[in-house]
Amino acid sequence: MKKAIIIGGNELKGEIKIDGAKNSVLALLPAALMVNGKVTFENVPNISDIKSFLEIFDYLEIDYFYEKSAAKLTIHSREITNLEVVTPLVESFRASYYLMGVMLGRYKQLTISMPGGCKIGTRPVDYHLEGFKALGADVDFSGSTIILKAEKLIASEINFPRKSVGATMNLIYAACYAEGLSVIKNAALEPEIDDLIGFMNVLGFKVLRIQNDIHIEGMEKILNVDDISYSVVPDRIEAMSYVILGLLTGEIKVTNLNYSHIKKLIDLLKAHGADLEISDTEIIARKSTVKALDIVTEEYPGVPTDIAQILGVLLMKGDGDSVITETIFENRFESFIELNKLNCKNEIVDDSVKITGGRDFIGNTVIAKDLRGCASLVFAGLAAKFQTIVENIDYMERGYSNLYKKLSAVGANIQII
Ligand code: EPZ
Repeated sequence: MKKAIIIGGNELKGEIKIDGAKNSVLALLPAALMVNGKVTFENVPNISDIKSFLEIFDYLEIDYFYEKSAAKLTIHSREITNLEVVTPLVESFRASYYLMGVMLGRYKQLTISMPGGCKIGTRPVDYHLEGFKALGADVDFSGSTIILKAEKLIASEINFPRKSVGATMNLIYAACYAEGLSVIKNAALEPEIDDLIGFMNVLGFKVLRIQNDIHIEGMEKILNVDDISYSVVPDRIEAMSYVILGLLTGEIKVTNLNYSHIKKLIDLLKAHGADLEISDTEIIARKSTVKALDIVTEEYPGVPTDIAQILGVLLMKGDGDSVITETIFENRFESFIELNKLNCKNEIVDDSVKITGGRDFIGNTVIAKDLRGCASLVFAGLAAKFQTIVENIDYMERGYSNLYKKLSAVGANIQII
């Protein structure tokens, strides 16, 4: 793994354009495998998770053409004969679990390794598997391998015990080839789900969100498409991240964002003293101190779990002491303890982290253990005095497109070794 050497304290000024959403494109790529034909995605983020998915496409012998600099990825989807995806490629990459819904839907069978993912929690897939069973699939889960099989899939009502982004995506895929009208109740509301719903309808499927439920009319025959193009929704987590960086370090104009997707946090920060100029697609964030906040992370449209670690860095500079309570994952806060090495004062108490405000960050060496934690360490290093070394910077490359180009463009002093 690589290291980032950061010389902090510079005022960061300039413009950062938001790219396509990681958590959307990782659901859109496998969805293209549900049809035969050519599908081109635009606004594809330049993140290492895309490379991980393309390695799986190579394994499945799917043809694709990736124009990274043009943020375009074309997939030539056709019938897949290899329905056994038991490989370390899957174990290290959580989004590979989307192959379950896609392959069970189209081929009525799949054997796949248990998907891995960031160490922010146990990351079970029980909701996914229960949903597949509700559609009539046999599920054999030995702990390391999942075997899915179905004579045919029959539409059903699927009611998740709690909102789950991944399980909602997976059941949309599978229900698209189940006979009849399926209804997913208590479906996740994230914008990335709506991006997938939009794409499925462009492919010719019939998927409709009605408040908290999603209705899917199953197709009898495999769909053939001619030449489809689809643009990925802007990444709301990346957008919030760079707004917070501007509030921490200088003046950053964040463009190509969708304000309606980040409204809850942005309005909260503005109401608590953040210097923000807001429009539907752009936000100018200027260095400012926010008042202490008590935040509880929630499913969309609440304050997302994925921004908690980065928001925490802003609150460590805040006016007064703050608390962030995590309600989605069990282990989101390890990076807060790592930040204490930069002269922060954070304390984890059960599922909350108590943040002492008004801290002066002082450079040090810190170790990243997950994607958003890594981003929080880098942003703290950019706001710190002296030098900060962030080990395992590769984590941040998983989810922040053209990371070094964007940071350097606003004056960040960051080297990678
Ligand atoms: C997606 O993860 C995102 N990943 C995560 O982004 C994001 O934090 C999360 O949704 C927010 O909910 C991708 O889209 C690739 P969940 P996912 O199913 O689908 C529990 C990032 O930093 N659960 O919505 O894995 C689960 O343990 C990453 O960009 C079950 O118990 O999350 C969690 O407590 C991290 N059983 C809660 O539900 C299941 O079968 C919500 O998880 C599924 C989930």
